[in-house]
Amino acid sequence: MRRPISKVASGLALLLATAACTGATSEPVVSTAIPEPMVSPILTGPEALDTLTYAQPQVARVTHVALDLELDFDAKAIGGTATLDIAAGEDADELVLDSNGLQITAVTDAAGQPLYFHTGDGTGETGKGLPVSIAIGKEAGSPRRIVITYAAAPDAAALQWLTREQTAGKVHPFLFSQGQAILNRTWIPTQDSPGIRQTWEARITAPKPLDVVMSGVVQGEPEDLGDGRRAFSFVMDKPVPPYLIAIAAGDIDFRAIGPRTGVWAEPSVLPRAYAEVADTEEMVVAAEALYGEYRWGRYDMIILPPAFPYGGMENPVMTFLTPTFIAGDRSNNGLVAHELAHSWSGNLVTNAVWGDSWLNEGVTTYFENRIVEAVYGKKRAEQEAALMYANIQEVLAEVGADAPGTALATDGEYQLGSAIAYDKGAFFLRTVERITGRERFDAWLRQWFDNHAFQPATSEMFYEDMMANLVASDAEAEALMLRDWIFAPGLPGNVAKPDPAAFAEVDAAVSEYKASGHMPAAYAGWTAAEQMRFLDNLPAELSTDQLSALDQALGLSQTGNNEILFLWLEMALENRYEPAVAQAEEFLARVGRAKFVRPLFAVLWNEGEWGRPIATRIYAKTRDSYHAVTRAGVDRVLASE
Ligand code: BES
Ligand code: ZN
Repeated sequence: MRRPISKVASGLALLLATAACTGATSEPVVSTAIPEPMVSPILTGPEALDTLTYAQPQVARVTHVALDLELDFDAKAIGGTATLDIAAGEDADELVLDSNGLQITAVTDAAGQPLYFHTGDGTGETGKGLPVSIAIGKEAGSPRRIVITYAAAPDAAALQWLTREQTAGKVHPFLFSQGQAILNRTWIPTQDSPGIRQTWEARITAPKPLDVVMSGVVQGEPEDLGDGRRAFSFVMDKPVPPYLIAIAAGDIDFRAIGPRTGVWAEPSVLPRAYAEVADTEEMVVAAEALYGEYRWGRYDMIILPPAFPYGGMENPVMTFLTPTFIAGDRSNNGLVAHELAHSWSGNLVTNAVWGDSWLNEGVTTYFENRIVEAVYGKKRAEQEAALMYANIQEVLAEVGADAPGTALATDGEYQLGSAIAYDKGAFFLRTVERITGRERFDAWLRQWFDNHAFQPATSEMFYEDMMANLVASDAEAEALMLRDWIFAPGLPGNVAKPDPAAFAEVDAAVSEYKASGHMPAAYAGWTAAEQMRFLDNLPAELSTDQLSALDQALGLSQTGNNEILFLWLEMALENRYEPAVAQAEEFLARVGRAKFVRPLFAVLWNEGEWGRPIATRIYAKTRDSYHAVTRAGVDRVLASE
């Protein structure tokens, strides 16, 4: 039923079969044919229908994208050509692409013949369809190719153009992209759906001395164009979902970690960045030991300026990271483990639709915890799992355990809710692991990655695969409650709870504080997870005196860990603690990570006549410095009742 994943593989099989027939001896068979690019299948079931794309991949689909683009930092412009290879049935007349604000000046076939195109219907974040007539020049069976000349809009939501002032070095501008979930259609004219995998290549020109990196393998040294510009070339020869095409450009340097790992950052950030991620090679080794070979070649990271709207983004061969995770003690390195784990869950096996994003994020969060356990030990892993569990409980208490949005598989629409897709997803796998035993579970997960490598997947497929290849008996099936976990709201009764011993000392300190106001003397020596647990469990209402005593005794406002600083600011603002306002303002001006920025504005907004004027005043100053993702989130908060 499933098509072969790789024409290279089937071609090889044919070659070997031929060699056998002709009675070839021990002579190695050398093929001189250029291998055809790998083409991944499209899923056709109703549960794999992506409602966020205009593409009709069963009629005509993009298989390869070749970009030739120029970066203009003054105009905040990126434009050039996109050459698309298309696979289509003989009678296909139209290829539908996704476009959000792209300025298209021409579409031609490979010979330069103009092709008819028009802007289709559509509004909002999905943009519009871009149907292109591919009837002209059609030759049955031959691959078709079109060339699109275009530019992205200056306000393309995937891109953030940073002024020199927004960088650490303050001398050169910076650019980065964020494609997930459906933002890449603001700068790349292709079929922007996670189930339509494409290989790609790019040639990008940028002014000296800026360096360009992408989520593909760099080809040789940059070419000096002699006009103050250089051209960088990249190739991704494995089919990827198009949200994983990413670019960054700026004054950045590289430092190697291991033989296949390294880190890019602005020169002044690189030493701190390197020290934080120096365990990465070890993490890759640990990940491979768990779930099989790392298939992407190099694993490099780039530490972006603090305007980056996420903690991290798993762009293949080049993870994008916020600098705000740097704490000086590697305590937030679960983030690195997480983005690395996506090299299997997400990048190798990809949710076909965004409503199944737990297949990317939940499986990754489980895998992340296994890497943390292997590299940093069981205690730290169990503490981090316990924080996730508390997060699930908090959200279920807030929205209700029967709220439909608390099912892992959310019908259709994309939904981010990290407590569900991430933490409930991770606890699902943890529960299955506990019931089947680690050995069987790990073997199952490894075969899931291997057998679906470079392919899209759905919740239904995940369930079927567990039933076929993991579940050993009816009794085990009953104990696992697989369908409850995936399709029902709330938390099934068989959940493998975290070990209460993980935070026994901290939880005792919380009780003591609540009873007597006694500060935990051990706080400074606690792990970051322990400190977060303590702060998470303090009473919601704290007086000015209590907050000031906590800050003084525990050094909360002095912490070098932004996760802890965030918890402090959140708790201080919730209690209208005036001395924290200036620090919150400084933080909100310095950091653009949506996970920190949106909740702090929400807290201020909830504090009515006290907080709203503060929120409005700060946002007037910071809004322009935020990425479109962060801006959209805060805009919604400040527009709410
Ligand atoms: N792929 C996500 C980021 C993402 C999710 C971007 C949805 C756009 C839409 C990334 O892997 C991620 O989960 N980042 C987290 C990391 C954390 C859970 C360790 C983040 O940014 O906070
Ligand atoms: Zn993730």
